[in-house]
Amino acid sequence: MTGVGKGLSLVAVHDGRIVGIAGIHTPSLPRMRGIGDMMIYLHQDFHGAGLGTAMTEKLLALAKNKGLHRVGLEVVEDNRAAVHLYEKCGFTIEGISVDAYYGADGKYHNMLVMGKVV
Ligand SMILES: CC(C)(COP(=O)(O)OP(=O)(O)OC[C@H]1O[C@@H](n2cnc3c(N)ncnc32)[C@H](O)[C@@H]1OP(=O)(O)O)[C@@H](O)C(=O)NCCC(=O)NCCS
Repeated sequence: MTGVGKGLSLVAVHDGRIVGIAGIHTPSLPRMRGIGDMMIYLHQDFHGAGLGTAMTEKLLALAKNKGLHRVGLEVVEDNRAAVHLYEKCGFTIEGISVDAYYGADGKYHNMLVMGKVV
């Protein structure tokens, strides 16, 4: 099927429960060859313990091993933990989408476009 890509996925399991997921989606379109989009989401009880760093580093290593050229993502500008994590793992801020996210606080927030050539 056109447009349905392959990708990389990681799941963190603790005591038989899934506590984190992370992945890189790689569209199968020819002009998107080697380009992936990353996401990560951890259960709140597992924040701040280094799991996000470990999963991101593992995912990037898998991406490099698979021959991906670039990994990109978008993150809410106020999400300081995530922005710090991504910068620590080598992503740079490439642009800002103004008021591109409507938060639970009822306000619009900027989104950062970040990327890394792996
Ligand atoms: C963002 C997320 C993946 C980070 O994972 P984590 O396991 O909590 O992060 P780590 O423990 O590996 O720490 C990452 C870094 O962020 C830092 N950090 C944590 N909270 C921070 C904050 N509020 N401001 C700045 N830095 C912060 C940590 O100190 C650490 O940096 P260091 O290693 O230099 O000390 C996790 O909090 C999460 O799943 N959040 C909800 C979903 C989400 O926001 N996903 C990203 C959407 S794009």
